[in-house]
Amino acid sequence: TKDPMTVAVIGTGYVGLGTAALLAHIGHTVTGIDISEEKINLLRAGQVPIHEPGLDDLLASVQDRLTWTTSYDSVHTADVIFICVGTPPGPDGTPDLQYVVSAAARIAPHLNGHAQVIVNKSTVPIGTGDYVQRLLEDHAPGYDHERHRVVSNPEFLREGTALQDSLYPDRIVLGGHPDALQIMARLYAPLIEQTFTAPAAAPRPETYTRPTVVNTTLQSAEMIKYAANAFLALKISFANEIAGLCERVGADIEEVATGIGLDGRIGTRFLNAGAGWGGSCFGKDTAGLISAGREHGYDMPILQAAIDINTRQRQVIIDKLMRQLRTLKGKRVTVLGMAFKPDTDDLRDAPAHDLITRLHQLGATVTAHDPIAMPRAAREWTHLTYREASSVQDALHRADAVIIVTEWSDYRTLDWNAHLKGMRGRLIIDARNIIRTPIDAHVEQIGREAPVGERRALT
Ligand code: UDX
Repeated sequence: TKDPMTVAVIGTGYVGLGTAALLAHIGHTVTGIDISEEKINLLRAGQVPIHEPGLDDLLASVQDRLTWTTSYDSVHTADVIFICVGTPPGPDGTPDLQYVVSAAARIAPHLNGHAQVIVNKSTVPIGTGDYVQRLLEDHAPGYDHERHRVVSNPEFLREGTALQDSLYPDRIVLGGHPDALQIMARLYAPLIEQTFTAPAAAPRPETYTRPTVVNTTLQSAEMIKYAANAFLALKISFANEIAGLCERVGADIEEVATGIGLDGRIGTRFLNAGAGWGGSCFGKDTAGLISAGREHGYDMPILQAAIDINTRQRQVIIDKLMRQLRTLKGKRVTVLGMAFKPDTDDLRDAPAHDLITRLHQLGATVTAHDPIAMPRAAREWTHLTYREASSVQDALHRADAVIIVTEWSDYRTLDWNAHLKGMRGRLIIDARNIIRTPIDAHVEQIGREAPVGERRALT
């Protein structure tokens, strides 16, 4: 890049690693900071603590411009300081800001005479940008309100496609003082102009041109992040609500979703009915908006309904199973897919977690399988009662019923007719509608009749 800058990125989770890799790739000099020695040691050894396709290759290719450390000293020379720490939900569901506050406290001593922008990339409640600005004002000895500005720059990347999403975004949202936004425009110039060379791990999509930059205030930028996630969650819940009625009137949710989505005002994406949404963002951000509303005495009934429908959707799957088996006592039920979505090992708010819990409560013997997330589940789901299968074949062996919870490509291409022979029963609850050809089993899908012999082929 023509104008390389010096950047510090605090936090090495999904957002921090993605940001560090992106900024180093477009030519800046980046220091990645984390208080966890364990994570920093891994990264120094060239290992990536999370599962994200292509991220290891991209990080390796920019290692000359990327340093990992537990020390905040490099903040002193940084032009731009990104806060990318976690904001996990606290006991009441509102985001816990302790890591943001402690990152700000550690940054404070390093603010100095040169213009430095402090960027909030963590998803934080509306008003946090102002709050961090005040923390710095109060605690940074070198603070100068003309030179040190807080910017909100929310992250919209999806796990599993983090590289594509951050290199080729639809939009870049920047909230804060115009002087600071100018520095951000310089920082992101290669991204805005798309002048960088596309990495092998994430080729530039043919139809992609460049992102739109949305310059706004701190509060609006913070709101954009929440409202975007809430809207996507709402879209999925809408599809799930309509799917339930489709089943009852004999309509097909997939055809309905295509039929409505082709109206450009609606859009076909994020209308897949299924097991409902999970992951670290949708649950937290919908709850976050509702609690922000509550703080101001303002109801948000649409968001509450989206959450309720999502909770109900997990029960819809159990209901389908119960209708067929009547009781789960003594039944062997296999759960295929544990991660909240394919191509990640992230288990946060995964529908499989609730399903395994309920199946066990109802007396079933549960076996679960996931192509990637099993080692992580063995560490994080110790409170659940289930057996981890060594392979899909092992998972299906002698099962009475199978529930497909995550649409991994491995499951899309399963040779069902071969696997069915090892099963004790012939019931498949395909909660992601991935079975596309008739198979010799009773298949239940969401919002549509499963493919059977005489039905026309659906693609
Ligand atoms: C989401 C947002 O997409 C991203 O912009 C934001 O920055 C973080 O939150 P992520 O949580 O990684 O990203 O996953 P996403 O791919 O959006 O899927 C979320 C959940 O919705 C998954 O559980 C997925 O299975 C479910 N989903 C998604 C559906 O059930 N139907 C759909 O049509 C789409």
